[in-house]
Amino acid sequence: MGDPAHDSSDFLTDKSAKIFVAGHRGLVGSAIVRKLQSLGFSNLVLRSHSELDLTRQFDVDSFFAAEKPRFVILAAAKVGGIHANNTYPADFIAINLQIQTNVIDSSFRHGVKKFLFLGSSCIYPKLAPQPIPENALLTGPLEPTNEWYAIAKIAGIKMCQAYRIQYSWDAISGMPTNLYGRNDNFHPENSHVLPALMRRFHEAKVNNAKQVVVWGTGSPLREFLHVDDLADAVVFSMDKYSGLEHLNVGSGKEVTIKDLAELVKEVVGFEGDLVWDTSKPDGTPRKLMDNSKLLGLGWTPKISLKDGLVDTYKWSIAMSNKTQSNRKAQHTNYRTGETKMIIRNVFEPEVTYGTLVIHSRSLNPQDANGYKSSYLLLGATLQLATYGFSLFEGAQLKCEGKSPNVHPGYRYLVVRMKKPDLSCSSFEF
Ligand SMILES: NC(=O)c1ccc[n+]([C@@H]2O[C@H](COP(=O)([O-])OP(=O)(O)OC[C@H]3O[C@@H](n4cnc5c(N)ncnc54)[C@H](OP(=O)(O)O)[C@@H]3O)[C@@H](O)[C@H]2O)c1
Repeated sequence: MGDPAHDSSDFLTDKSAKIFVAGHRGLVGSAIVRKLQSLGFSNLVLRSHSELDLTRQFDVDSFFAAEKPRFVILAAAKVGGIHANNTYPADFIAINLQIQTNVIDSSFRHGVKKFLFLGSSCIYPKLAPQPIPENALLTGPLEPTNEWYAIAKIAGIKMCQAYRIQYSWDAISGMPTNLYGRNDNFHPENSHVLPALMRRFHEAKVNNAKQVVVWGTGSPLREFLHVDDLADAVVFSMDKYSGLEHLNVGSGKEVTIKDLAELVKEVVGFEGDLVWDTSKPDGTPRKLMDNSKLLGLGWTPKISLKDGLVDTYKWSIAMSNKTQSNRKAQHTNYRTGETKMIIRNVFEPEVTYGTLVIHSRSLNPQDANGYKSSYLLLGATLQLATYGFSLFEGAQLKCEGKSPNVHPGYRYLVVRMKKPDLSCSSFEF
């Protein structure tokens, strides 16, 4: 069977159509939700990880049977940098295969009209021609550091193609370049280059540091796309594209790491020096997607790198300020005689992570090593899950000793949490 012809142009016409955006709290999923809402879509079905674990086949299928969405956009995935890929290869391949297999198959079985799968540029061979065209897929060995993730993503593209061929089902795939924007990950150890630079310049500015040292020569060329442009391309593709081959989604604009760093420095307003540590490795010299196929369909990116960076920095500062005032409010409100859990949103300037602090009489210093109070921790985590929190992988569990300013005999346990919902920042258990 060849590539089926589909009438895919009704995506934008019915704003009440039910759309499931999987992974709506992530960088990509949240941007897609913003875009759909701005266009007037009123029937979005959203489930956080804790409400629906997409690795659980039965739960996913039950969800689709009950909700019967008309359109599905899959932006949920286990993502991470080189370190995480190297440390958890089994998780990267297994979890991503499970998520996408469950969501693709249930979408098909429950009558989803159109499906979009998201992968990334890591699917391409390490030595692919530059700019990388779609047909470079499977033409050479992958970059070994992220091959587990890449293999899962390639399987996702192939699964969409297989269902399209066998069942004439309208499943398409988009492969974005490096993305940045609101809800990005600013974690000090495992963030991507752009938020990592922004964080370092911001910290240097706040601390009146004289210089910021960046690894390498600054000569490698990279491509970046604002996540709102990606969301725009996703909506465009849902409306206009119906084909077997995946689509590259990129800005088509290259920038040296040096120029990028200078731009971030300017946007953040750091006035010290930018120093290059040329003894450190540079990484791949160039990585650019060939976006001509998507551009040929009529889509164009709209947000310049400078404007995108300004918006991202403003957002991170706003988040930081918001969490600062949350913290003050809680400070006066946790003095009770009972065991109490306080979530202090410590985002400064770690904007996507929070810190949960559990105060309790029943903690003891061994918690730091053996998780001796695992019941307490488990209880806390389960309760938090109902509020949409999830434990940051490799969470820092640290018994910090006696609680200052709370109650004699109390100790506190610090748990790093991922992406807290700021609207429920304090509660008791
Ligand atoms: N960021 C980039 O630069 C970039 C570039 C190209 C392509 N992409 C692609 O875009 C997609 C989304 O990436 P992202 O950057 O938005 O990642 P992200 O910010 O980490 O978001 C991923 C989302 O998936 C959810 N999720 C993970 N495991 C789940 C599970 N088992 N069940 C339900 N939900 C689960 C996460 O929820 P929790 O946080 O609660 O676990 C999170 O909301 C990925 O396919 C990625 O390859 C990203």
